[in-house]
Amino acid sequence: MRGLKKAAFGAAVILGQAVVMSGAAFAQSALNVAAIPPGDPVHGKTLYQACESCHSINDNDVGPKHRGVVGRHAASIADYAYSPALKNSGLTWDEATLNRWLFNPSALVPGTKMFFKIDDAQSRADIIAYLKEQK
Ligand code: HEC
Repeated sequence: MRGLKKAAFGAAVILGQAVVMSGAAFAQSALNVAAIPPGDPVHGKTLYQACESCHSINDNDVGPKHRGVVGRHAASIADYAYSPALKNSGLTWDEATLNRWLFNPSALVPGTKMFFKIDDAQSRADIIAYLKEQK
């Protein structure tokens, strides 16, 4: 990892390709995924631009709309075509689950069609804090 350049937020993303975004602390390990630092929703709004290649708060796009996502059951937007894997996941999007999802969607829900990861724990926390405000 050491030689890797930081991936810029907002980098072009192509559906079907795993895009690994590395923040300052890309030494963050899988062991650390459970620890969620306090999130900054204002910074999270900026970081959310990376999600907007596929998502928006109010409309379905490549991915489902995000309004009210924190606290709702996974795959519960009626007019969005989820993968069977996410539909059958039985998950609820609380902060801990979202943190695991953003760290590695395919590890949490094998067979999901979201391929996008955020390595940096603080960035995940900031995005989750922003999503929490989009009730
Ligand atoms: C390259 C496209 C892409 C990007 C970028 C992307 N997602 Fe997704 N996302 C998807 C797809 C596709 C799904 C549907 C997954 C499925 O049905 O298996 C999804 C599903 C989700 C879900 C589940 C919602 C629900 O209704 O159950 C959440 C939460 C989510 N994404 C959050 C994010 C966040 C936050 C970001 C930015 C950090 C992001 N995604 C970036 C494509 C993307």
